[in-house]
Amino acid sequence: MQAFRAAILRFADDRSAVYEEDGLLVVGPDATGRKVVRAVGSYAALAPNFPGVAVQHFPGRIIAPGFIDLHIHFPQLDVIGSPAEGLLPWLEKYTFPHEARFADAGHARALATFFIDELLRHGVTSALAFATSHPVSVDALMAEAGGRGLRMVAGKVLQDRHSPEGVRDQTEQSLVDTEALIQRWHGVGRLGYAITPRFAPSCSEAQLRGAGELAARYPGVWIQSHVAENREEIAWARQLFPDARSYLAVYEGFGLMRERAIYAHCIHFDDEDRRLMRSTGAAAAVSPTSNLFLGSGFFDYEGAERIGFRYGLASDVGGGTSFSPFHTMLAAYYVGREGQTKPGLSLSPQQLWWQHTAGAAQALGLEGVIGNLQPGCEADFIVIDPGATPLLARKTRLAGSLDELLFSLIVLGDDRAIERVVIGGT
Ligand code: GUN
Ligand code: ZN
Repeated sequence: MQAFRAAILRFADDRSAVYEEDGLLVVGPDATGRKVVRAVGSYAALAPNFPGVAVQHFPGRIIAPGFIDLHIHFPQLDVIGSPAEGLLPWLEKYTFPHEARFADAGHARALATFFIDELLRHGVTSALAFATSHPVSVDALMAEAGGRGLRMVAGKVLQDRHSPEGVRDQTEQSLVDTEALIQRWHGVGRLGYAITPRFAPSCSEAQLRGAGELAARYPGVWIQSHVAENREEIAWARQLFPDARSYLAVYEGFGLMRERAIYAHCIHFDDEDRRLMRSTGAAAAVSPTSNLFLGSGFFDYEGAERIGFRYGLASDVGGGTSFSPFHTMLAAYYVGREGQTKPGLSLSPQQLWWQHTAGAAQALGLEGVIGNLQPGCEADFIVIDPGATPLLARKTRLAGSLDELLFSLIVLGDDRAIERVVIGGT
Protein backbone atom coordinates (compact mmCIF):
# COMPACT_ATOMS: atom_id res chain seq x y z
CA MET A 1 0.00 0.00 0.00
CA GLN A 2 1.04 3.58 -0.54
CA ALA A 3 -0.49 6.93 0.28
CA PHE A 4 -0.54 10.42 -1.20
CA ARG A 5 -1.07 13.59 0.81
CA ALA A 6 -2.34 16.83 -0.79
CA ALA A 7 -5.61 18.64 -1.27
CA ILE A 8 -7.99 16.06 -2.79
CA LEU A 9 -10.91 16.60 -5.18
CA ARG A 10 -13.50 13.91 -5.75
CA PHE A 11 -17.24 13.66 -6.49
CA ALA A 12 -20.30 12.63 -4.50
CA ASP A 13 -23.22 10.71 -6.03
CA ASP A 14 -25.16 13.98 -6.47
CA ARG A 15 -22.36 15.27 -8.79
CA SER A 16 -21.14 17.83 -6.26
CA ALA A 17 -17.43 18.01 -5.55
CA VAL A 18 -15.96 16.92 -2.23
CA TYR A 19 -12.79 18.81 -1.41
CA GLU A 20 -10.34 17.96 1.34
CA GLU A 21 -7.83 20.77 1.97
CA ASP A 22 -5.35 18.41 3.61
CA GLY A 23 -6.31 14.99 2.36
CA LEU A 24 -4.92 11.48 2.22
CA LEU A 25 -5.44 9.04 -0.65
CA VAL A 26 -4.53 5.46 0.22
CA VAL A 27 -3.93 3.14 -2.73
CA GLY A 28 -3.49 -0.60 -2.69
CA PRO A 29 -4.40 -3.79 -4.55
CA ASP A 30 -7.93 -5.17 -4.46
CA ALA A 31 -8.76 -8.89 -4.46
CA THR A 32 -7.90 -9.16 -8.17
CA GLY A 33 -4.62 -7.24 -7.88
CA ARG A 34 -5.85 -3.99 -9.46
CA LYS A 35 -4.51 -0.93 -7.67
CA VAL A 36 -7.52 0.94 -6.35
CA VAL A 37 -8.37 3.62 -3.84
CA ARG A 38 -8.58 1.90 -0.46
CA ALA A 39 -9.38 4.98 1.60
CA VAL A 40 -9.73 8.71 1.11
CA GLY A 41 -10.43 11.55 3.49
CA SER A 42 -8.76 14.07 5.72
CA TYR A 43 -5.13 13.42 6.56
CA ALA A 44 -5.68 13.97 10.27
CA ALA A 45 -8.52 11.45 10.44
CA LEU A 46 -7.05 8.76 8.17
CA ALA A 47 -3.31 8.76 8.77
CA PRO A 48 -3.49 6.98 12.17
CA ASN A 49 -5.30 4.05 10.50
CA PHE A 50 -2.38 3.41 8.15
CA PRO A 51 0.77 3.31 10.24
CA GLY A 52 3.80 2.15 8.31
CA VAL A 53 2.33 3.08 4.91
CA ALA A 54 4.74 5.34 3.01
CA VAL A 55 3.20 8.76 2.33
CA GLN A 56 4.21 10.96 -0.60
CA HIS A 57 3.43 14.54 0.28
CA PHE A 58 2.59 17.17 -2.34
CA PRO A 59 2.26 20.40 -0.38
CA GLY A 60 0.24 23.11 -2.11
CA ARG A 61 -0.93 20.67 -4.79
CA ILE A 62 -4.36 19.20 -5.66
CA ILE A 63 -4.94 15.52 -6.36
CA ALA A 64 -7.90 15.02 -8.70
CA PRO A 65 -9.33 12.14 -10.77
CA GLY A 66 -7.61 11.70 -14.15
CA PHE A 67 -9.74 13.26 -16.88
CA ILE A 68 -11.74 11.10 -19.29
CA ASP A 69 -12.03 12.19 -22.93
CA LEU A 70 -15.32 10.76 -24.14
CA HIS A 71 -14.64 11.24 -27.86
CA ILE A 72 -11.35 11.77 -29.65
CA HIS A 73 -9.80 10.77 -32.99
CA PHE A 74 -6.26 9.50 -32.54
CA PRO A 75 -5.42 9.83 -36.28
CA GLN A 76 -6.48 13.48 -36.36
CA LEU A 77 -3.49 14.86 -34.46
CA ASP A 78 -2.30 16.62 -37.60
CA VAL A 79 -5.80 17.79 -38.53
CA ILE A 80 -6.12 20.15 -35.54
CA GLY A 81 -6.59 23.74 -36.65
CA SER A 82 -7.62 23.01 -40.25
CA PRO A 83 -10.31 25.54 -41.17
CA ALA A 84 -13.13 24.68 -43.57
CA GLU A 85 -16.66 25.72 -44.47
CA GLY A 86 -18.09 23.28 -41.97
CA LEU A 87 -18.00 19.58 -41.23
CA LEU A 88 -18.43 17.94 -44.64
CA PRO A 89 -15.79 19.99 -46.55
CA TRP A 90 -13.47 19.59 -43.56
CA LEU A 91 -13.80 15.81 -43.74
CA GLU A 92 -13.10 15.74 -47.49
CA LYS A 93 -10.27 18.22 -47.56
CA TYR A 94 -8.28 17.40 -44.41
CA THR A 95 -9.57 14.47 -42.41
CA PHE A 96 -9.84 11.69 -44.97
CA PRO A 97 -6.41 12.40 -46.58
CA HIS A 98 -4.74 12.35 -43.15
CA GLU A 99 -6.54 9.20 -42.08
CA ALA A 100 -5.55 7.42 -45.32
CA ARG A 101 -1.95 7.49 -44.11
CA PHE A 102 -2.82 5.08 -41.29
CA ALA A 103 -2.81 2.13 -43.66
CA ASP A 104 0.93 2.24 -42.90
CA ALA A 105 1.56 0.47 -39.57
CA GLY A 106 4.77 2.42 -38.95
CA HIS A 107 2.97 5.74 -39.26
CA ALA A 108 0.15 4.47 -37.01
CA ARG A 109 2.62 3.33 -34.33
CA ALA A 110 4.54 6.62 -34.35
CA LEU A 111 1.35 8.65 -33.98
CA ALA A 112 -0.04 6.33 -31.32
CA THR A 113 3.00 7.08 -29.16
CA PHE A 114 2.64 10.81 -29.74
CA PHE A 115 -1.08 10.62 -29.04
CA ILE A 116 -0.76 8.84 -25.69
CA ASP A 117 2.06 11.21 -24.66
CA GLU A 118 -0.21 14.14 -25.44
CA LEU A 119 -3.19 12.71 -23.50
CA LEU A 120 -1.04 12.12 -20.43
CA ARG A 121 0.66 15.52 -20.60
CA HIS A 122 -2.82 17.03 -20.34
CA GLY A 123 -3.94 14.80 -17.47
CA VAL A 124 -6.23 12.59 -19.55
CA THR A 125 -5.97 9.03 -18.26
CA SER A 126 -8.80 7.37 -20.23
CA ALA A 127 -10.34 7.97 -23.63
CA LEU A 128 -12.94 6.63 -26.03
CA ALA A 129 -11.12 6.93 -29.33
CA PHE A 130 -11.73 6.51 -33.03
CA ALA A 131 -8.87 4.88 -34.91
CA THR A 132 -9.17 4.77 -38.73
CA SER A 133 -10.76 2.21 -41.03
CA HIS A 134 -7.43 0.31 -41.11
CA PRO A 135 -7.20 -2.49 -38.53
CA VAL A 136 -3.47 -1.78 -38.07
CA SER A 137 -4.39 1.62 -36.64
CA VAL A 138 -6.34 -0.12 -33.86
CA ASP A 139 -3.47 -2.52 -33.19
CA ALA A 140 -1.05 0.42 -32.93
CA LEU A 141 -3.23 2.37 -30.49
CA MET A 142 -4.16 -0.61 -28.33
CA ALA A 143 -0.57 -1.82 -28.09
CA GLU A 144 0.64 1.61 -27.03
CA ALA A 145 -2.18 2.26 -24.53
CA GLY A 146 -1.99 -1.27 -23.13
CA GLY A 147 1.78 -1.09 -22.76
CA ARG A 148 1.41 2.04 -20.68
CA GLY A 149 -1.47 0.75 -18.55
CA LEU A 150 -4.20 3.13 -19.70
CA ARG A 151 -7.87 2.27 -19.66
CA MET A 152 -8.53 2.98 -23.33
CA VAL A 153 -11.56 2.10 -25.46
CA ALA A 154 -11.12 2.31 -29.22
CA GLY A 155 -12.31 0.87 -32.51
CA LYS A 156 -11.82 0.55 -36.23
CA VAL A 157 -13.90 3.02 -38.19
CA LEU A 158 -16.63 1.55 -40.41
CA GLN A 159 -17.18 3.56 -43.60
CA ASP A 160 -18.04 1.56 -46.71
CA ARG A 161 -19.67 4.35 -48.76
CA HIS A 162 -19.43 8.07 -49.52
CA SER A 163 -15.79 7.87 -48.55
CA PRO A 164 -12.75 8.23 -50.80
CA GLU A 165 -10.34 5.50 -51.81
CA GLY A 166 -7.80 5.06 -49.05
CA VAL A 167 -10.25 5.17 -46.16
CA ARG A 168 -13.29 3.37 -47.62
CA ASP A 169 -13.64 -0.22 -46.39
CA GLN A 170 -15.49 -3.25 -47.76
CA THR A 171 -18.74 -4.20 -46.07
CA GLU A 172 -18.14 -7.89 -45.37
CA GLN A 173 -14.45 -7.53 -44.59
CA SER A 174 -15.06 -4.54 -42.27
CA LEU A 175 -17.34 -6.67 -40.08
CA VAL A 176 -14.96 -9.62 -40.09
CA ASP A 177 -12.14 -7.25 -39.11
CA THR A 178 -14.27 -5.70 -36.35
CA GLU A 179 -15.04 -9.06 -34.79
CA ALA A 180 -11.39 -10.12 -34.98
CA LEU A 181 -10.36 -6.88 -33.26
CA ILE A 182 -12.98 -7.38 -30.52
CA GLN A 183 -11.52 -10.82 -29.86
CA ARG A 184 -7.96 -9.53 -29.95
CA TRP A 185 -8.35 -6.50 -27.71
CA HIS A 186 -11.60 -6.29 -25.73
CA GLY A 187 -10.96 -6.99 -22.06
CA VAL A 188 -7.22 -7.41 -22.49
CA GLY A 189 -5.88 -5.71 -19.37
CA ARG A 190 -7.69 -2.39 -19.15
CA LEU A 191 -8.47 -2.14 -22.88
CA GLY A 192 -11.94 -2.14 -24.37
CA TYR A 193 -13.29 -2.26 -27.91
CA ALA A 194 -15.87 0.08 -29.48
CA ILE A 195 -17.84 -0.80 -32.62
CA THR A 196 -17.34 2.38 -34.63
CA PRO A 197 -19.63 3.26 -37.56
CA ARG A 198 -18.21 6.68 -38.55
CA PHE A 199 -21.68 8.19 -39.07
CA ALA A 200 -24.80 6.95 -40.81
CA PRO A 201 -24.05 8.72 -44.14
CA SER A 202 -20.74 6.86 -44.49
CA CYS A 203 -22.19 3.41 -43.80
CA SER A 204 -24.38 1.23 -46.00
CA GLU A 205 -27.46 -0.35 -44.48
CA ALA A 206 -25.71 -3.71 -44.60
CA GLN A 207 -22.75 -2.33 -42.66
CA LEU A 208 -24.98 -0.71 -40.03
CA ARG A 209 -26.99 -3.93 -39.72
CA GLY A 210 -23.79 -5.94 -39.27
CA ALA A 211 -22.55 -3.46 -36.66
CA GLY A 212 -25.84 -3.80 -34.76
CA GLU A 213 -25.60 -7.60 -34.87
CA LEU A 214 -22.10 -7.47 -33.41
CA ALA A 215 -23.31 -5.05 -30.73
CA ALA A 216 -26.00 -7.54 -29.73
CA ARG A 217 -23.56 -10.45 -29.71
CA TYR A 218 -20.97 -8.58 -27.62
CA PRO A 219 -22.99 -6.60 -25.05
CA GLY A 220 -19.92 -5.57 -23.05
CA VAL A 221 -18.39 -3.88 -26.08
CA TRP A 222 -18.93 -0.16 -26.60
CA ILE A 223 -20.46 1.58 -29.65
CA GLN A 224 -19.35 5.01 -30.82
CA SER A 225 -20.50 7.24 -33.67
CA HIS A 226 -21.50 10.80 -34.57
CA VAL A 227 -24.99 12.26 -34.75
CA ALA A 228 -26.82 15.58 -35.28
CA GLU A 229 -23.67 17.66 -35.49
CA ASN A 230 -24.27 19.90 -38.49
CA ARG A 231 -27.29 20.93 -40.55
CA GLU A 232 -25.93 19.73 -43.91
CA GLU A 233 -24.95 16.40 -42.37
CA ILE A 234 -28.46 16.01 -40.91
CA ALA A 235 -30.14 16.84 -44.23
CA TRP A 236 -27.93 14.26 -45.93
CA ALA A 237 -28.75 11.57 -43.34
CA ARG A 238 -32.47 12.26 -43.73
CA GLN A 239 -32.20 11.92 -47.50
CA LEU A 240 -30.33 8.62 -47.19
CA PHE A 241 -32.69 7.19 -44.57
CA PRO A 242 -36.09 8.72 -45.43
CA ASP A 243 -38.06 6.23 -43.35
CA ALA A 244 -36.36 7.04 -40.05
CA ARG A 245 -38.12 9.50 -37.72
CA SER A 246 -34.87 11.37 -37.17
CA TYR A 247 -31.14 11.01 -37.76
CA LEU A 248 -30.73 9.51 -34.28
CA ALA A 249 -33.53 7.04 -34.97
CA VAL A 250 -31.46 5.58 -37.83
CA TYR A 251 -29.05 4.14 -35.26
CA GLU A 252 -31.90 2.84 -33.14
CA GLY A 253 -33.29 1.04 -36.20
CA PHE A 254 -30.05 -0.90 -36.57
CA GLY A 255 -29.72 -1.88 -32.90
CA LEU A 256 -26.99 0.65 -32.21
CA MET A 257 -28.56 2.38 -29.25
CA ARG A 258 -28.03 0.82 -25.88
CA GLU A 259 -25.97 1.28 -22.74
CA ARG A 260 -22.32 1.79 -23.65
CA ALA A 261 -23.28 3.54 -26.92
CA ILE A 262 -21.71 7.00 -27.09
CA TYR A 263 -22.80 9.51 -29.72
CA ALA A 264 -20.66 12.56 -30.37
CA HIS A 265 -22.30 16.01 -30.61
CA CYS A 266 -26.10 15.40 -30.25
CA ILE A 267 -26.66 19.10 -30.94
CA HIS A 268 -29.71 19.34 -33.19
CA PHE A 269 -32.08 17.12 -31.19
CA ASP A 270 -35.76 17.39 -30.42
CA ASP A 271 -37.30 16.03 -27.23
CA GLU A 272 -38.19 12.76 -28.94
CA ASP A 273 -34.48 12.22 -29.66
CA ARG A 274 -33.64 13.09 -26.07
CA ARG A 275 -36.18 10.58 -24.81
CA LEU A 276 -34.66 7.97 -27.11
CA MET A 277 -31.25 8.64 -25.56
CA ARG A 278 -32.73 8.27 -22.09
CA SER A 279 -34.76 5.14 -22.74
CA THR A 280 -31.90 3.30 -24.42
CA GLY A 281 -29.18 4.33 -21.96
CA ALA A 282 -27.04 5.82 -24.72
CA ALA A 283 -24.87 8.84 -23.89
CA ALA A 284 -23.72 12.04 -25.60
CA ALA A 285 -20.09 13.07 -25.95
CA VAL A 286 -20.34 16.85 -25.77
CA SER A 287 -17.50 18.34 -27.81
CA PRO A 288 -17.62 22.11 -27.42
CA THR A 289 -14.26 23.19 -28.89
CA SER A 290 -15.04 21.17 -32.01
CA ASN A 291 -18.56 22.55 -32.27
CA LEU A 292 -17.29 26.12 -31.96
CA PHE A 293 -14.39 25.56 -34.37
CA LEU A 294 -16.48 23.90 -37.09
CA GLY A 295 -19.45 26.20 -36.48
CA SER A 296 -21.73 23.25 -35.82
CA GLY A 297 -23.93 24.67 -33.07
CA PHE A 298 -24.40 24.52 -29.31
CA PHE A 299 -25.22 21.47 -27.19
CA ASP A 300 -28.48 22.09 -25.33
CA TYR A 301 -27.70 21.34 -21.69
CA GLU A 302 -31.14 22.44 -20.55
CA GLY A 303 -32.77 19.89 -22.87
CA ALA A 304 -30.42 17.14 -21.73
CA GLU A 305 -31.16 17.83 -18.07
CA ARG A 306 -34.90 18.32 -18.57
CA ILE A 307 -35.33 14.96 -20.28
CA GLY A 308 -32.45 13.36 -18.42
CA PHE A 309 -29.94 11.45 -20.51
CA ARG A 310 -26.28 10.78 -19.89
CA TYR A 311 -23.52 12.95 -21.24
CA GLY A 312 -19.88 13.86 -20.67
CA LEU A 313 -17.17 16.04 -22.13
CA ALA A 314 -14.88 15.32 -25.04
CA SER A 315 -12.19 17.07 -27.03
CA ASP A 316 -13.11 15.63 -30.46
CA VAL A 317 -9.55 16.36 -31.60
CA GLY A 318 -8.96 17.10 -34.52
CA GLY A 319 -12.31 18.90 -35.07
CA GLY A 320 -11.65 19.99 -31.50
CA THR A 321 -8.86 22.45 -30.95
CA SER A 322 -7.20 21.21 -27.78
CA PHE A 323 -6.30 18.13 -25.77
CA SER A 324 -6.64 20.20 -22.61
CA PRO A 325 -9.61 19.34 -20.41
CA PHE A 326 -9.35 22.87 -18.98
CA HIS A 327 -9.93 24.33 -22.45
CA THR A 328 -12.78 21.90 -23.10
CA MET A 329 -14.48 22.75 -19.79
CA LEU A 330 -14.17 26.46 -20.55
CA ALA A 331 -15.66 25.97 -24.02
CA ALA A 332 -18.48 23.95 -22.43
CA TYR A 333 -19.14 26.91 -20.19
CA TYR A 334 -19.39 29.23 -23.24
CA VAL A 335 -21.68 26.77 -25.01
CA GLY A 336 -23.90 26.38 -21.94
CA ARG A 337 -24.17 30.18 -21.59
CA GLU A 338 -25.22 30.71 -25.19
CA GLY A 339 -28.85 31.75 -24.83
CA GLN A 340 -29.97 32.96 -28.26
CA THR A 341 -30.60 29.63 -29.97
CA LYS A 342 -31.52 27.65 -26.84
CA PRO A 343 -31.95 28.26 -23.10
CA GLY A 344 -28.67 29.62 -21.70
CA LEU A 345 -27.37 28.06 -18.49
CA SER A 346 -24.47 29.10 -16.30
CA LEU A 347 -22.83 25.75 -15.58
CA SER A 348 -20.98 25.64 -12.28
CA PRO A 349 -17.30 24.70 -12.27
CA GLN A 350 -18.12 21.60 -10.23
CA GLN A 351 -20.62 20.51 -12.89
CA LEU A 352 -18.11 21.16 -15.67
CA TRP A 353 -15.39 19.17 -13.89
CA TRP A 354 -17.82 16.32 -13.18
CA GLN A 355 -18.67 16.10 -16.89
CA HIS A 356 -15.01 15.43 -17.70
CA THR A 357 -14.47 12.86 -14.90
CA ALA A 358 -17.22 11.06 -12.98
CA GLY A 359 -19.92 12.04 -15.49
CA ALA A 360 -17.89 10.74 -18.42
CA ALA A 361 -17.30 7.51 -16.49
CA GLN A 362 -21.04 7.16 -15.91
CA ALA A 363 -21.67 7.71 -19.64
CA LEU A 364 -19.26 4.84 -20.36
CA GLY A 365 -20.90 2.55 -17.80
CA LEU A 366 -17.69 2.75 -15.75
CA GLU A 367 -19.08 4.59 -12.74
CA GLY A 368 -17.09 3.67 -9.65
CA VAL A 369 -14.30 2.28 -11.82
CA ILE A 370 -12.66 5.43 -13.23
CA GLY A 371 -13.28 9.17 -13.12
CA ASN A 372 -13.49 9.46 -9.35
CA LEU A 373 -11.42 8.86 -6.23
CA GLN A 374 -13.95 7.15 -4.03
CA PRO A 375 -12.89 3.86 -2.41
CA GLY A 376 -12.82 1.06 -5.02
CA CYS A 377 -12.03 3.33 -7.97
CA GLU A 378 -8.96 2.48 -10.01
CA ALA A 379 -6.08 4.72 -8.98
CA ASP A 380 -5.81 7.00 -12.03
CA PHE A 381 -5.18 10.51 -10.81
CA ILE A 382 -3.39 13.75 -11.50
CA VAL A 383 -1.44 16.14 -9.33
CA ILE A 384 -2.35 19.73 -10.20
CA ASP A 385 -0.08 22.67 -9.45
CA PRO A 386 -2.36 25.66 -8.88
CA GLY A 387 0.71 27.90 -9.03
CA ALA A 388 1.92 26.69 -12.42
CA THR A 389 1.88 30.16 -14.00
CA PRO A 390 2.19 33.57 -12.32
CA LEU A 391 -1.39 34.56 -13.06
CA LEU A 392 -2.79 31.18 -12.04
CA ALA A 393 -0.82 31.36 -8.79
CA ARG A 394 -2.15 34.83 -8.07
CA LYS A 395 -5.73 33.98 -8.94
CA THR A 396 -5.90 30.65 -7.09
CA ARG A 397 -4.34 32.23 -3.97
CA LEU A 398 -7.19 34.73 -3.97
CA ALA A 399 -9.90 32.06 -4.34
CA GLY A 400 -12.33 32.23 -1.44
CA SER A 401 -14.34 29.12 -2.26
CA LEU A 402 -14.02 25.80 -4.08
CA ASP A 403 -16.02 27.19 -7.02
CA GLU A 404 -13.64 30.14 -7.32
CA LEU A 405 -10.63 27.82 -7.19
CA LEU A 406 -12.03 25.45 -9.83
CA PHE A 407 -13.13 28.29 -12.09
CA SER A 408 -9.65 29.85 -11.92
CA LEU A 409 -8.16 26.54 -13.05
CA ILE A 410 -10.76 26.07 -15.81
CA VAL A 411 -10.21 29.57 -17.21
CA LEU A 412 -6.44 29.89 -16.76
CA GLY A 413 -5.20 26.29 -16.62
CA ASP A 414 -3.55 24.17 -19.29
CA ASP A 415 -0.99 21.37 -19.49
CA ARG A 416 1.47 23.38 -17.39
CA ALA A 417 -0.77 22.82 -14.37
CA ILE A 418 -0.53 19.01 -14.70
CA GLU A 419 2.49 18.21 -12.57
CA ARG A 420 2.18 14.46 -12.35
CA VAL A 421 -0.03 11.71 -13.73
CA VAL A 422 -0.52 8.43 -11.90
CA ILE A 423 -1.97 5.50 -13.86
CA GLY A 424 -3.18 2.44 -11.97
CA GLY A 425 -1.35 3.56 -8.83
CA THR A 426 2.03 4.10 -10.49
N1 GUN B 1 -18.59 13.03 -38.62
C1 GUN B 1 -18.07 12.00 -39.31
N2 GUN B 1 -16.75 11.90 -39.15
C2 GUN B 1 -16.40 12.89 -38.32
C3 GUN B 1 -15.15 13.32 -37.76
O1 GUN B 1 -14.08 12.76 -38.01
N3 GUN B 1 -15.20 14.40 -36.93
C4 GUN B 1 -16.35 15.03 -36.63
N4 GUN B 1 -16.32 16.08 -35.80
N5 GUN B 1 -17.53 14.66 -37.14
C5 GUN B 1 -17.55 13.61 -37.98
ZN1 ZN C 1 -15.57 13.06 -33.82
